[in-house]
Amino acid sequence: MLRTHTCGQLRKTDVGTEVTLCGWVDSKRDHGGAVFIDLRDRYGLTQVVIGPPESSAEQIDEAGRVPAESVILIRGIVTDRLEGKINEKLATGEIEVRTVYFEVLNLCQTPPFTPGQSDLPGEDLRLKYRFLDLRRKEMQRSLVLRSQIVKSMRDYFETHDFIDVETPILGRSTPEGARDYLVPSRVHPANFYALPQSPQLYKQILMVAGFDRYVQVAKCFRDEDLRADRQPEFTQLDLEMSFVDSDDIIDLIDGLVAKVAKEVLGKEVKTPLPRMTYEEAMRRFGSDAPDLRFGMEIIDITEVAKKTEFRVFRGTADSGGFVRGINVEQAAPQYSRRQIDELTEYVKSDFGAKGLAWFRVEEDGSLWSPISKNLDEAHLAEIKSALDGKPGDLLMFLADSWEVTCKGLSGLRKRLAGELGLIDPNELNCSWVTEFPMFEWDAEGQRWNAMHHPFTAPLASDLGALTESPETCRAQAYDLVINGSEAGGGTIRIHDPKTQSQVFDLLGIDEETAEDRFGFLLNALKYGAPPHGGIALGVDRWVMLLAGLDNIREVIAFPKTQKAADLMTEAPGQVDHEQLRELHLRTAKVQKS
Ligand code: AMO
Ligand code: AMP
Repeated sequence: MLRTHTCGQLRKTDVGTEVTLCGWVDSKRDHGGAVFIDLRDRYGLTQVVIGPPESSAEQIDEAGRVPAESVILIRGIVTDRLEGKINEKLATGEIEVRTVYFEVLNLCQTPPFTPGQSDLPGEDLRLKYRFLDLRRKEMQRSLVLRSQIVKSMRDYFETHDFIDVETPILGRSTPEGARDYLVPSRVHPANFYALPQSPQLYKQILMVAGFDRYVQVAKCFRDEDLRADRQPEFTQLDLEMSFVDSDDIIDLIDGLVAKVAKEVLGKEVKTPLPRMTYEEAMRRFGSDAPDLRFGMEIIDITEVAKKTEFRVFRGTADSGGFVRGINVEQAAPQYSRRQIDELTEYVKSDFGAKGLAWFRVEEDGSLWSPISKNLDEAHLAEIKSALDGKPGDLLMFLADSWEVTCKGLSGLRKRLAGELGLIDPNELNCSWVTEFPMFEWDAEGQRWNAMHHPFTAPLASDLGALTESPETCRAQAYDLVINGSEAGGGTIRIHDPKTQSQVFDLLGIDEETAEDRFGFLLNALKYGAPPHGGIALGVDRWVMLLAGLDNIREVIAFPKTQKAADLMTEAPGQVDHEQLRELHLRTAKVQKS
């Protein structure tokens, strides 16, 4: 090794030792003939002094000129810092190294930003110079946390007898339902591999093959619209088990959540984690990944609305819609008319709501609102009591379809909780949402889509509904929710060909298409398939949530931008004609946007 110690290692007990350190010049101060450098590596900072009598005038001069972020090597003697110069914030703060030898290993050009600078540069610059950005303490902390989380997960599954099996990246399209990334085949003209959206089909085959318990840290690829918690290329902790039901998978993951939280964050998570059905989640929180760190539950006042004369409420209720609202407790003093108008614009533009009806609970307990005049005292009293309104509370309502009231009120809940500071940043709130619907209606395409994927088994009690009322048919599906984000999802799979073909029928997948897309799996399921099920956890999301961050790019070493580009390597890039020719491809001319 070039060095004897890291920059975070030396203590008072090392005083008198000769050491060699290597690292980056974090900062530098020139003090009358001696140069003080804070030398940095990922373990910490050590103060080194290049000065007389240990160092020559040339060495002191050279040290004085070395630019920040250069890599240097120093050899010297560990000494006590002078009284009053001790830095208690630094683990190495009691000592410094007086240098007898100093060497520049690599000079740093003027960097576009330094890791220590307090004002963070724009994200594009950080991504372009990711090697500098990754030198920042915060990024190093994220990636170390990520490494600890993945290790903790791997250890857990190893002790539970799981076998780690790698599955191919070049394969056939998988059924998660996003757009595929395609790779043209050179050997098979006009044929394409699809990058896996998940290892779903392979892991089911591994169950048919008798592996019983499979696990993998798997890269997945989905060409979909990106958001703060989505990347085109992301990592799943993916697993599958044989001879299990939903409870077995949920219990297993409960244990994992508790272990990871304890080991990595030192937090106790009480298990079993709370569970609620999809129906309850939508009814109480308007979301299938409800944030349970605060209240503000949704209350349905459609029955009261039917009795009122207020056109908006009554009209919606009479035509089969819903009037639902939330009580934003004690928020009335904080929200001006202008701010409420902004919230109205928000629910209109983001969720397609038609408006926002609101009431302020006055000191005398009465409800005040621009629309109160449209409502009788008795109905106002009923509304107040339904939401348990107290003086100072703000009651907000949407009159709309079930979907719009869910999305709009869920959006309002989250936004208001953020604005009002109702969320404890240290809380780790984990829970399950179960019994998802099997299908969702695609109004545009006028067809049913699988809510999870087409191999998901219905609840045994809902088998009849498969053919009679698909909209009511529930799945043996479960999502893990952490702090209001979907952190994992899985299902028990169909292992009976009759049910599988009923589901394909409903989804409009005819025999030929099924054979073409998933023939290998359907075939395998005819050769002795055990009942099986599994789950995939979003590793990037886990790290993001456990680190208390809200942007997935902060926990990925080399992430893609919102436009799926890597600004450092400049991928995707153009390729030369010869490569295209070999792949039997020609590109159409595209206008540069
Ligand atoms: P699903 O599609 O629900 O299930 O994905 C599982 C988990 O992966 C994470 N995730 C993502 N993370 C970052 N960026 C993305 N684009 C992204 N998409 C998904 C989420 C999600 O909960 N094969 C099934 C699992 C199974 O049934 O066993 C699957 O992939 O945290
Ligand atoms: P209007 O009569 O359309 O001007 O609406 C009167 C008030 O009711 C306004 O404050 C609107 O924002 C609100 N409002 C209108 N439509 C709805 C709706 N569908 N749900 C809730 N509030 C609404």
